[in-house]
Amino acid sequence: MTGPLSTAQIREKYLQFFQSKGHLHLPSYSTVAPDPTTLFTVAGMQPFKEQFMGAPAVFDGVASKRVTTAQKCVRVGDIENVGRTRRHLSLFEMMGNFSFGDYFKRDAIHWAWEFLTGAEWMGMDGSKLYVTIYEDDDEAFMYWTQEIGIDPSHVHRFGADENFWPADAPKEGPNGPCGPCSEIFYDRGPKYGDDSWADYAVTRESARFLEIWNLVFPQFDRQEPLADGTPVLRDLPFKNIDTGMGLERVASVVQDVPDFYSNDVFLPIVTRVAELSGQPYEGEVSVSHRVVAEHIRSVSMVIADGSVPSNTGRGYVVRKILRRACRHAYLLGLREPSLFKLVPIVVDRMGDAYPELRENLAKVEATVKAEEESFLRTLEGGIQRLGKLMSGMERGATLSGNDAFVLYDTYGFPVDLTKEIAEEYGISVDEAGYAESLENAQNLARAGSKYGKSELFGGNMEALDGLSPTVFVGYDDLQADGEVVALVGAGERLTHLSAGSEATVVLSRTPFYAEGGGEVGDTGRIEWDGGAGIVRDTRKTPQGVFLHDVLIESGELKEGLSVRAVVSGERQAIQRHHTATHLLQSALRAVLGSGVQQKGSLVAADRLRFDFSHGAALSADEIAAVETLVSRWVSANFAVTWQEMPIADAKAAGATALFGEKYGETVRVVRVGGSVEYAGQTVSSMELCGGAHVTRTGDIGAFVILSDENVAA
Ligand code: ALA
Repeated sequence: MTGPLSTAQIREKYLQFFQSKGHLHLPSYSTVAPDPTTLFTVAGMQPFKEQFMGAPAVFDGVASKRVTTAQKCVRVGDIENVGRTRRHLSLFEMMGNFSFGDYFKRDAIHWAWEFLTGAEWMGMDGSKLYVTIYEDDDEAFMYWTQEIGIDPSHVHRFGADENFWPADAPKEGPNGPCGPCSEIFYDRGPKYGDDSWADYAVTRESARFLEIWNLVFPQFDRQEPLADGTPVLRDLPFKNIDTGMGLERVASVVQDVPDFYSNDVFLPIVTRVAELSGQPYEGEVSVSHRVVAEHIRSVSMVIADGSVPSNTGRGYVVRKILRRACRHAYLLGLREPSLFKLVPIVVDRMGDAYPELRENLAKVEATVKAEEESFLRTLEGGIQRLGKLMSGMERGATLSGNDAFVLYDTYGFPVDLTKEIAEEYGISVDEAGYAESLENAQNLARAGSKYGKSELFGGNMEALDGLSPTVFVGYDDLQADGEVVALVGAGERLTHLSAGSEATVVLSRTPFYAEGGGEVGDTGRIEWDGGAGIVRDTRKTPQGVFLHDVLIESGELKEGLSVRAVVSGERQAIQRHHTATHLLQSALRAVLGSGVQQKGSLVAADRLRFDFSHGAALSADEIAAVETLVSRWVSANFAVTWQEMPIADAKAAGATALFGEKYGETVRVVRVGGSVEYAGQTVSSMELCGGAHVTRTGDIGAFVILSDENVAA
């Protein structure tokens, strides 16, 4: 069969080409960002930041300073433009070749050229290629013009706003690896625009000159700027290469189709949207076909990676994308859930390259369908209410921020949809007013929260001002002697407590674990010469002052007294559950995929609960596999150890952290000293954790999953 290369063939050729140049091919990393600078993975290089910074380039035991990937990337900053234009995508595939202190600029440029123009590769006409370079990068200029032979008039030089990656990094950040870059453009010819390459130096926007590849030369580590704003760039230990070739863009060129939506991945999806809705893909409504097609592709991918629609963080973005697609399906006349019917086409087009899509097909369909059902109900009500609010308003008028807020708060109608619909009628939304209403509402909610600080053991926290952090010895000792440094009742400092009274007791040292990281606070007793009290719960202030909720049984407790604190035997059960929680997390990730993300947990004496993101209920087989894995760890009776270390070391060692959690410079890492095998994977457990654990996995005993429930529902 002849004809232009398919997207899959282009992807394959890229990976083959760079393998032939000694690169290790790694599968795409998850769309869930590997570091907290972004919610989603935005570039092929993001999973490799540590290697650029000098960490060993070893991947699943294979050392390689050259790596190539097809990375699924999600960028949602421009989401309102997706579909309205034909050149914005929320999900795209970035083909990348990376060097960690191995080859540099010269090879990167030569290989990009060879791949694009080589007859057995992309076979592009070199005279149609144009490049940009960083303003003072004479070295790149020399390679392009003298070694490659590109016409010097095909080269533009730009400043850090264009030819640095991340753009403007010296001034704007983020901190971390960055460097000058050289971008490659393809001239699609006058049928796409009558502008010239010289115009591009001024406009920097063109439908005709399409940027297809960015070659980045990361050699700096951007640091916090000086107080006066002067950028600080430190040399990295070595020079690196990071490139990103836009697969969809190269497919447009190679297949000579006008835009993404006409290529071999999108056309079948768009066509199916037309079939389902009975609306041909043409004219003004075609915006909606594009929105639906593009968004179902990105949403399928992120849900397959374990993100689920919710009201915060990444889940909020998933919900936003999905709901925008729902609204456009609605505009096409679809009044029943329909988006989920498109998932199999996405899987058909992309599932070979991203097998996680295929593995999670049912989960993705179910998640999309459930969100469609709930949103369709919201949508009908919201569109009607908004219509009423806008009736009688002229074009150019402004909808009050509070109206927009009430639509959202009371009717669940998202403000971005309000904005988009209002805009279609020439009406804007008072965004500052909206933000103010939202903040007021949040403050109210916070004041009423049962975890507000005034509620902490019913006391006024000012009574604790000036106390030093408590010395915690309870990882190793379940008994300790300490001195009473404060007694607090009803918000007041007290000098003594008599039998029968209940109050908060602060000790200089304590073995009691304070509630945190899902683990419940310890209970137990304190005893002193002439008296005793029951410790019913333990918490701590953000400053690290431990608060024991104590009922005095007998005698009198006074400030300054020495006491013996004894943690109850329940702690052993809590420790068993805590270590089991870690093993459960590793097992879930092994069985269900690394998309599984911890959302919370409860570690108590009688049970543990682990909350995680996964779009579907676990099957009986999956539950059995998870139980078997955990049991294997238990019977191996591995040692469990913990150690404090700098956060960078913990991350480099691959410790699992809770996404979005703030950690200090020094963290505690809990590690199980042995791994188990599952379906060819080596599964181990190492987590950032402040909790209490058993010292050997054998202490855990039997592990059984009693239930698996959908918390969101
Ligand atoms: N990291 C570079 C980019 O995203 C290749 O453009």
